[in-house]
Amino acid sequence: MKESTFVKHTTLFLHSVDFVKNSFVFDELDSTNATAKELAKKGAQEGTVVIARTQTHGRGRFDRRWESPEGGVYLSLVLRPQVPLEKTSLLSFLAALAVAKTIATYGVQATIKWPNDVRVNGKKIAGILLESEGGGSTSTYVVVGIGMNLAIDLKQLSAELQTTSTSLLNEVHQAVDYHKFLQTFFRIFEHFYAIYQEQRFSNILAEWKTFTDTLGKQVKIQTIAETVQGTAVDIDESGFLLLRTSEGELKKILSGDCLYFDELHHA
Ligand code: BTN
Repeated sequence: MKESTFVKHTTLFLHSVDFVKNSFVFDELDSTNATAKELAKKGAQEGTVVIARTQTHGRGRFDRRWESPEGGVYLSLVLRPQVPLEKTSLLSFLAALAVAKTIATYGVQATIKWPNDVRVNGKKIAGILLESEGGGSTSTYVVVGIGMNLAIDLKQLSAELQTTSTSLLNEVHQAVDYHKFLQTFFRIFEHFYAIYQEQRFSNILAEWKTFTDTLGKQVKIQTIAETVQGTAVDIDESGFLLLRTSEGELKKILSGDCLYFDELHHA
């Protein structure tokens, strides 16, 4: 089959990115994370990148669907970090931070809702899905999946998402170049990934905290096991959210859906 312009240009572009060691670009794929995981299991090296123009079965956190129309960024990175296993989830903080900083280069203020929803004006613009396999004290591989509403006309999304999502195109009201966005993103990601590999985790969390609007807020967290409410007081050095309940108990939460009380009441 003849290569599309998207595949040709994106492959060529990825060859110029230092961080990218191997790339697989598709016009349409079920899920870039699913393909990246298969490649990782077969031994794909760190810096392998899978990109699709659209996805038919894009996956979100908690097995949700990630709508993936044309114009979005659907990207998965294979990493093999040499850091303690309990620090793996910090990679999703790192990815959210890199996306938020990339968005900032367009003069748009992005915020991060714990753990890794990137939002603009309270609407979701990007999400991160981390999938990994442990091998003793470190991970054998980590796939960092990034879905970003870049040049998406919001009408391409379902009615439900149209009210809760935004895109960079919708925020800047001018054309946004796909490869330029990726170039900035990879530059920033590479910078923080070097810090991560040096195990300077507090530096990453300190930067992440400058973007989050979760800390200090009254939140409701739905985990797989329970729903808890309280004040989000801090994030610990492994990415756990520290929540102070109304009974004064301090709970440590690794993963969950975070809802803000002030937004719940206005909904
Ligand atoms: C979330 O629920 O917020 C995470 C969404 C992650 C979506 C991205 S799109 C690229 C990669 N491939 C997938 O199937 N999912 C991730």
